[in-house]
Amino acid sequence: MKLPFGIQKDLVVGLDIGSHAVKVCQLKRSSNGYAIVTLGSTVLPEGAVDDGSLNDSEAVGKAIADLFKNLKIKNRTVGFSISGYSVIVKKVNLAVMEEAKLEEHIMSEAEQYIPFDLEDVYLDFQDLKTNSKDTDRTDVMLVAAKKEIVDDYLEMLRGINLNPVIVDVDGFALENSYEHNYRISENVALVDIGAAKMNINIISQGISVVARDIIVGSRQLTEQIMNVFDIEFDEAEAIKLGFLPAEGKKQEVGEIFSTTCTQWILEIKKAIDLYHSNHPDQPLNRLILSGGGAKVAGLIDFLTQETEIPVELFNPFLKMVSNPKKIDPDYLLSIGPEMAIATGIALRPSAI
Ligand SMILES: Nc1ncnc2c1ncn2[C@@H]1O[C@H](COP(=O)(O)OP(=O)(O)OP(=O)(O)O)[C@@H](O)[C@H]1O
Ligand SMILES: [Mg+2]
Repeated sequence: MKLPFGIQKDLVVGLDIGSHAVKVCQLKRSSNGYAIVTLGSTVLPEGAVDDGSLNDSEAVGKAIADLFKNLKIKNRTVGFSISGYSVIVKKVNLAVMEEAKLEEHIMSEAEQYIPFDLEDVYLDFQDLKTNSKDTDRTDVMLVAAKKEIVDDYLEMLRGINLNPVIVDVDGFALENSYEHNYRISENVALVDIGAAKMNINIISQGISVVARDIIVGSRQLTEQIMNVFDIEFDEAEAIKLGFLPAEGKKQEVGEIFSTTCTQWILEIKKAIDLYHSNHPDQPLNRLILSGGGAKVAGLIDFLTQETEIPVELFNPFLKMVSNPKKIDPDYLLSIGPEMAIATGIALRPSAI
């Protein structure tokens, strides 16, 4: 919605609190789109965030507060996203109704769609308006998030003097970032591979038709390197990222990469097969990979070969301008895949 007289609400600062790292991104509107104000990330202590829940609020709060301080971010109004077992996203097909009627219907019927006690969740919905001339039914996206988990995040953020106004969902934020940067008339699979989970979101004609979280990610690689060579996390992570030479370990490290990537690809193929069986006349045009795990060397070629679909890395800054004197263009390019979700949140206005 456009506010009168050209006044538009500020954008929130986007916070993606992952299990490995917090990513922050601040954007502003510019004359022909968006400009990057600042961005950055910081690694979290092991276990501080696990399966979408905040296990160590103090450590995460401190990491975020330090990041805001170092990046000199003055805007305290933030959005963050949730994922994992505490959030359920479900598409239901309902008769077309007016907004107020739809809300009433969902509140009274939600129990059959959501496997949680309704008292324990925040519930939201959006009519996707998929009804066509020949049908009076439409798809409605339901989101239920456990209050306990969301409240932990809100409390942590308020505790460091931030003002959280938007609770997003990882998959939606990814989709938002995609819509701002790419041609949305395509059929595309967005795949975010983080440290502990992979989010697959297949979008056909601008509508999300397959969405799932799978418990795999780049930390698997680190853990296997730790186990096979009996070494600590930091050393294994450094070997994985190629910062430490894998002397005498090359072959085993190669095998760890290849078995794990094969498992990831199998999961991606399962989602693509499901999509193709439901949309045989809408072949996928491409796969766009984000998250730190997307940067595994050779993954793009391997996936292209296995799926026979063009694969590329997500660039959330494709249509954004930035000052190369303030933000190194090489840094932007390398951090892009990890920043996809934070950018998708940072594109949200602070109020509608
Ligand atoms: N070049 C690379 N090769 C392999 N793994 C990488 C590479 N670069 C980063 N990673 C891994 O990506 C992960 C971090 O990515 P990301 O920030 O997307 O995860 P996260 O959002 O914190 O995790 P999650 O979404 O699973 O909670 C870490 O496990 C890191 O080691
Ligand atoms: Mg993530």
